[in-house]
Amino acid sequence: MKNILVIGAAGQIGSELVPYLRKIYGDNHVVATYNHTPLPQELMESGPSAKVNATEGNSLNEVVRKHNIDTIFNLVAVLSAKGEANPANSWKINMDTTFNCLEIMKEVKGALFTPSSIGAFGPTTPLDHTPQDTIMRPTTIYGISKVAGELLGDYYYLKYGVDARGLRYPGIISNVTLPGGGTTDYAVEIYYEAIKQKKYTCNLPAGTFLDMMYMPDALRSAVELMEADPSKLIHRNCFNVTAMSFDPEIIAAAIRKYIPEFVLEYNPDPIKKAIADSWPNSMDDSAARNEWGWKPEYDLDSMTRDMIEKVSLKLKK
Ligand code: SER
Repeated sequence: MKNILVIGAAGQIGSELVPYLRKIYGDNHVVATYNHTPLPQELMESGPSAKVNATEGNSLNEVVRKHNIDTIFNLVAVLSAKGEANPANSWKINMDTTFNCLEIMKEVKGALFTPSSIGAFGPTTPLDHTPQDTIMRPTTIYGISKVAGELLGDYYYLKYGVDARGLRYPGIISNVTLPGGGTTDYAVEIYYEAIKQKKYTCNLPAGTFLDMMYMPDALRSAVELMEADPSKLIHRNCFNVTAMSFDPEIIAAAIRKYIPEFVLEYNPDPIKKAIADSWPNSMDDSAARNEWGWKPEYDLDSMTRDMIEKVSLKLKK
């Protein structure tokens, strides 16, 4: 990876991936693009940036040529719950972006990272220790677009040699940019509300187990996968990766070690509940561990300690 383009750089993952990549590959070698949501000031100032509508091939093509890009991190997506409100729009954004990235990387013989998700699984998938290779019949438009993206990535690799790789991310917990419209968003909001109000009303019921990961592990996993020796990769699109699995009661108990008076209440959202029920309780990520050495650093306790410290500081400012 010499010249990298991050599309969706203003989002939850992009806003942290850009500085992470700039530190490793050099500020001038990482171009951050945005569309409707403006980039945070620090990202505008610390390296090159461009306004790009990645659903339009020409717009993407122009920036790839201008900056001599050899690798794209494609982080544009409408998440699961938001996608259900406007499936046609979600399909267009998720698929046109992935397709355009693959087409342009075919021309420049480059590499592409596109995250997939736990949302690529569905109600007929084995829910516990969900295998790497298993039934994938998701029932959300987000999940359908993720499965299609995975298949397209492998297709472009096999047919055209595009170095397309990806991860099936679990819910990502972070403290810089809030996620928007996902089913796992509660696991971020709960920290902010625990610190602000000492109380949180959860939109998923107790007993809803989902895989999760702290942002530092999510960033490192993306770079480690893209740097992995291709001869070792049996899979490409996409690898199960996880760091922990919990339900709302378990994360609340972890928070109470720091904020003992924290109260958790429930008001489940039926759409989010149905989505969460169709996703794995916990994935088996041994393919990622065996093929490129994946290993998470953060568990629930170390993540909770860091989240409480960082979010408290942020809320004081
Ligand atoms: N965090 C995503 C969502 O909840 C899952 O990939 O939609």
